[in-house]
Amino acid sequence: MFKKETYISRREKLKKQVGNGLILLLGNSESPMNYADNTYHYRQDSSFLYFTGVNHPDLVTVLDCESGKDVLFGDDYTIDHIVWMGQQPTIASRADKSGIKETQPLSKLQQVLDAAKSTGRTIHFLPVYRHDNKIRIFEWLGIEPAKVVENASIDLIKAVVNQRNYKSDEEIVEIEKAVNTSVDMHVAAMRMLKPGMRESDIAAEMIRIAEAENGHLSFPVIATINGQTLHNHYHGNIVKDEQVFLLDCGAETEMGYAGDLSSTLPVGPKFTSIQKEIFNIALASHEAAIDMLKPGVAFKDVYYQSARTILEGMKGMGFVKGNIEDALVNGAHAMFFPCGLGHMMGLDVHDMEDLGEVYAGWDGVPKSTQFGLKSLRLGRKLEPGFVITIEPGIYFVPDLIDLWKTNNINTEYLNFDMLDKFRNFGGMRNEEDFLITPDGKRLLGKQKPKTIEQVEAERAYAFK
Ligand code: GLY
Repeated sequence: MFKKETYISRREKLKKQVGNGLILLLGNSESPMNYADNTYHYRQDSSFLYFTGVNHPDLVTVLDCESGKDVLFGDDYTIDHIVWMGQQPTIASRADKSGIKETQPLSKLQQVLDAAKSTGRTIHFLPVYRHDNKIRIFEWLGIEPAKVVENASIDLIKAVVNQRNYKSDEEIVEIEKAVNTSVDMHVAAMRMLKPGMRESDIAAEMIRIAEAENGHLSFPVIATINGQTLHNHYHGNIVKDEQVFLLDCGAETEMGYAGDLSSTLPVGPKFTSIQKEIFNIALASHEAAIDMLKPGVAFKDVYYQSARTILEGMKGMGFVKGNIEDALVNGAHAMFFPCGLGHMMGLDVHDMEDLGEVYAGWDGVPKSTQFGLKSLRLGRKLEPGFVITIEPGIYFVPDLIDLWKTNNINTEYLNFDMLDKFRNFGGMRNEEDFLITPDGKRLLGKQKPKTIEQVEAERAYAFK
């Protein structure tokens, strides 16, 4: 945890910005895998963590915007829990570390909420993504589970985004720890992968390194020869020489801050010449995006520059024809780059995606529905304190090639005969994490190998 003053001042700012009523912040409970006592790895809700620092299940905080009072609701462990899980800090001592003076058992929460409702006070809550918490909202406030998200408080969402989007110096220290562990994971994979291994050999090592730092993964590992599938979590393939391997994984620190990096490596010691050509176009797109990062620049324009670089490079190889600007407007780049360029990162790897990308990433502006652009999670103007990822890629998705060819989509800009020949190529991406500073940007964490020479130098260790 940070010192208690951090959490006190975050809550004070939140109450002031929301201005009226009660703020109900729900912590997460344990999630059972196959029976109640056999749970998944526990993950606290990130906004609850941000405003309280308390990483423990079954807690609720109520912040009163008028009286200024904060209360932590939760139940101390019984002797049965202690026998099963050992002695644990009391709710009061957890509250004290967060600077919260009052605690109440969970059974008292209903009375507090009923009293607020009966006097017409607003009860603000955030969009709820866990089903058990939707049921709790139904029980406490009478809002049907299917309608909980649409009843979330826009004022509260905006106030939370308005704080969490700007990372403080102490948060940057944590994020850099996560990124440094993530770099160690990627370098280890580059030094380990060999033909004949299974993808799961690499995935297992990534988990080991993240957990060895007393942390976790920030999202499930992507370690695959099928990099064209953006979030491929299958790890059962045996890898072969001349294939490309896409690794996208990151660590989460003990305090919950994320890192997120991607690398593309040859399964053999070296890339083939055609792999080098496409790798360098993806890298040029990555560098073009980085060059533009500074306050005041809209991330949507950074995305377009990155997509333009891919179209130009692919035109040079014969995949693209016609006018590049027209191809861009018509979304032809999405054949190779059907996803966004990057996202906010912090306590969540896709920071605050639960609160709605339109608020966290687009400053309230509705997102485009065009294929490709609609997946851009971040489009707003960049500001100092934002932490973002840059992760353009080039992918050959056989189903997309077939769909567009059959439906004559962007045929004036794409060479489908050539695309057909690359249907088994896979995908390539490179990803790094940046802080937007008052005069530009700063790479977070250690430099990860990212050029062909740097990646092949690491691959040499695997073949010694
Ligand atoms: N790099 C993984 C993701 O953005 O989901």
